[in-house]
Amino acid sequence: MVDKTRKIFNPSGEHRVLVTRELPGARWLEIFEEAGCRVEICSSQEVMSGDEIRSEVGDHCDGVIGQLTEAWNEEIFSALKIAGVKVYSNYAVGYNNVDVEAATSCGIPVGNTPGVLTETTAEMAVTLTLAAARRVIEADKFTRGGKYRGWQPSMFLGKLLYRKTVGVIGAGRIGSVYGKIMVEGFKMDLIYHDIRRNETLEKYISDYSRFLTEHGEKPVACDYAGTADEVLARADVVSLHPVLDNTTFHLINAARLDLMKEDAVLINVSRGQVVDEAALVAHCRDHPSFRTGLDVYEAEPDMAPGLAGLDNAVIVPHIGSATGWTREGMAVLAACNVAAILRGYPAWRKTQNIDPFLGDDPPRAAPGIVNADELSIPYYRGD
Ligand code: DGY
Repeated sequence: MVDKTRKIFNPSGEHRVLVTRELPGARWLEIFEEAGCRVEICSSQEVMSGDEIRSEVGDHCDGVIGQLTEAWNEEIFSALKIAGVKVYSNYAVGYNNVDVEAATSCGIPVGNTPGVLTETTAEMAVTLTLAAARRVIEADKFTRGGKYRGWQPSMFLGKLLYRKTVGVIGAGRIGSVYGKIMVEGFKMDLIYHDIRRNETLEKYISDYSRFLTEHGEKPVACDYAGTADEVLARADVVSLHPVLDNTTFHLINAARLDLMKEDAVLINVSRGQVVDEAALVAHCRDHPSFRTGLDVYEAEPDMAPGLAGLDNAVIVPHIGSATGWTREGMAVLAACNVAAILRGYPAWRKTQNIDPFLGDDPPRAAPGIVNADELSIPYYRGD
């Protein structure tokens, strides 16, 4: 049952904005105040159902910020349209929980929060990689459990990453940063797959490789793979960073896990449904030297039976973006999306850097509108 308590900010504001959960920081509220918005914040910790969202939106509302845990479907967008909602923003960069087509046919722009999660989420993928490869969680449990009786030559042997091959599936913002950290930090060769080649990433690695050679070190390689299968077969560590859609649902299944090296490491900080979790549990059971690190789950917050009992799995609760800076930045971008559309501002191009929105004087634009083209929203040309 949802707690109906609601916090109201700037009650005399002319535009009514509903936010389905409390967000961190104070800057996002200032942005709404500057835009003349009254902000109603639902303070429940439970995931809101469609009925509850519709009832909170009521008869009149101008803008909404929602969570990735809520399903923003056709029924909700029709209700939003009737209530006069002019813009919806997800408090997330991913928007697989939003039926963008339905929003577009209701004429509602959909916002997301790109840019501020990149390094934070890539760092979590690196954290999981190291924790899984070097068996940190198992060793921590062992030590806390009072089992450490002294140094042993063969205790908790893990996997060396240095000069091995790292695989990235989905070389967008987060996947590229993860790949670069692994190449620069551990001098790994990179093999990546994406639907399109990432020439910027390839050039970066090739320049870095030249730098290594100039300093008397062995070079590193960067290979584009035409298929995910090739990455899985060749890499020692594979990190998943694709967008979740029909083509990437269960991209990692039993057959693809079988392509991987016996002692490979598989990391997922993208979306849980990219992996057939039951197949992964079975694979981890059958291959004790295989390791996985997961931030996301197929049916969050639930996990596949057996996953929590595996020693060769490191599992954390969808905290890839959980740093104060990022979560506050996400709130700022979501607020800028809603406030900008309510003020009739244009959209920021997807390729543009969002940093200016994090300063005191944000551009007069909506930083992340995913259906701007479909709704013919003009693009920002300068203040
Ligand atoms: C997102 O924004 O899509 C992330 O999954 C939140 O951590």
